[in-house]
Amino acid sequence: MCGIFGYIGSQQACPLLIQGLERLEYRGYDSAGVCVKDIDLQVVKQEGRVGDLKQLPSVSKLKGTLGIAHTRWATHGAPVKKNAHPHLSKSFAIVHNGIVENHGTLRLMLEQEGFEFVSDTDSEVLAHLIEHVYAGDVVSAVSQALSLVEGAVGLAVLSQEYDSIVVARRGSPMIIGVGKDELFISSDAAAVLPHTRSVVYLKEGQIALLSRSGYEVVDASSGVSVHPEVERISWTLEHIEKGGYPHFMLKEIFEQPRTIAEALRGRLTDKGVQLSVDVSGVERIVIVACGTSWHSGLIGKYLIERLARVPVEVDYASEFRYREPVLSPKDLVVVISQSGETADTLAALRLAKRVGAKTLGLVNVVGSTIAREVDSGIFLRAGPEIGVASTKAFTSQVACLSLLALKLREDKGMPIARFAAELLSLPEKVSSVLELSESIKKLAEEFVSEKNFLYLGRGTNFPLALEGALKLKEISYIHAEGYPAAEMKHGPIALIDEHMPVFFIATKDSSYEKVVSNMQEVRSRGGRIVALVSSVDAEVSKLADHIIVVPYASEELSVVVNAIPLQLFAYHVANLKGLDVDKPRNLAKSVTVE
Ligand code: F6R
Repeated sequence: MCGIFGYIGSQQACPLLIQGLERLEYRGYDSAGVCVKDIDLQVVKQEGRVGDLKQLPSVSKLKGTLGIAHTRWATHGAPVKKNAHPHLSKSFAIVHNGIVENHGTLRLMLEQEGFEFVSDTDSEVLAHLIEHVYAGDVVSAVSQALSLVEGAVGLAVLSQEYDSIVVARRGSPMIIGVGKDELFISSDAAAVLPHTRSVVYLKEGQIALLSRSGYEVVDASSGVSVHPEVERISWTLEHIEKGGYPHFMLKEIFEQPRTIAEALRGRLTDKGVQLSVDVSGVERIVIVACGTSWHSGLIGKYLIERLARVPVEVDYASEFRYREPVLSPKDLVVVISQSGETADTLAALRLAKRVGAKTLGLVNVVGSTIAREVDSGIFLRAGPEIGVASTKAFTSQVACLSLLALKLREDKGMPIARFAAELLSLPEKVSSVLELSESIKKLAEEFVSEKNFLYLGRGTNFPLALEGALKLKEISYIHAEGYPAAEMKHGPIALIDEHMPVFFIATKDSSYEKVVSNMQEVRSRGGRIVALVSSVDAEVSKLADHIIVVPYASEELSVVVNAIPLQLFAYHVANLKGLDVDKPRNLAKSVTVE
């Protein structure tokens, strides 16, 4: 995810900027850049690592005691030098975190005014927009520019004219580090911590002007000065990198209200579903993926077939690539991959392209090989996923597949308002499920010594049962299997006894009664039951040993809400066992071999 760092003081800025960027590396990025102000604004940027940037001779030549810097995690435009920040206009340099949703309209307007763009980013719009509205006061110009911008903005601006940095926060964090006769800025406390523990957290809608004599903060909409409190950071660096969570996996689980909202941001509007995907003439969809991404693909099948009535096949990429699949140009092959580098998924994509099928990628890492090779794409916008076990990418995949289903439905002239509203309500529901973390931890204590687990669900909650079982096995090393609940009696029921706990996903939907009957079958064979429900009734209370209650969500989308307790359960079991949650044995985050 992008990171911002800046400095104004009496020391040479460049080494501090590079150090700041190094502190932001853990967030994940694909290019980096710095701007130091001496007489002019001098920019050096580069795709790749901060270490590569540091080695450039032009970097060592940067002299000046004032500067801003950025690590970019691509969202709009490939991770190449021209798209790296800082971006320049005639008299400003900017670094930006977030997404300018209306960048297309603003770009067009600015081009008509004679501004020339050199990058493919949404962020460059901000540099030219500030230049466009500037009338001698940088803070006013930033404030006015922001009033024209839709989307999330964490921003730092250097001007040619003044020795100052202007920073703004709207939907993306920004911190001022207060040192002795020097000031730092960053989007992340981790980068400020080596210099000072005294910080000001800018609040939503605030803009600050940092100069050699101190800082002033104003409320952007009213222009009124505010006097924010200087707070002391008591956390260690490691704490901050993980946002105060003990593991990246837990941090990423807790990020989901925001990452789901990000996946939907600007893509569901009054005008319908906004995706740059051509689905005209598509007669069949073939989804290809591996692991957790394959599970989201299975959920996608339910969603697309149910909402849009388009037939969908789902295949493991490793099988698809070797089974000589029957494909035609009327097929849309959807490849799903968090990393965008999974070898089997990439090979499947290339095969689909060879036979002339249209391809679409649902990928998290912009600039990854799959993202570059697909005909069109829907980026997951989940931010870097560092924990090896996929969590937030999974729910973003389901959110993006839901958008695709709605797009196909809309194309057929069917109404989408109810599903759209349901989708948009997910971040709030997920937030409330996260509050169950401590009670799920208590539940995990009871099951920490188990050797086996069965997960059962129906409809979209069947693939979620597979995902719940995968989460548990990969990080806790407890053997776990997922099944459609009704399949249990065709074999797995033989395993049921007091040593085979069963996790039922039994939220209210059209198959609820049937799932409760399956619970009965387990109960009468001495099995122990954990039931995930959206309301507690007498029957479930009688059958289940433990009940987890989540908010009700529609049959199509309950899977997103239900995923959270399964992730938390796996996390707490593995953590209680003292295992390396973020790096489970034998697993790699990106599987680039077949
Ligand atoms: C499990 C997990 C893996 C990945 C699989 C595909 O938690 O993360 O099963 O889902 O290796 O990876 P991507 O999505 O990067 O193609």
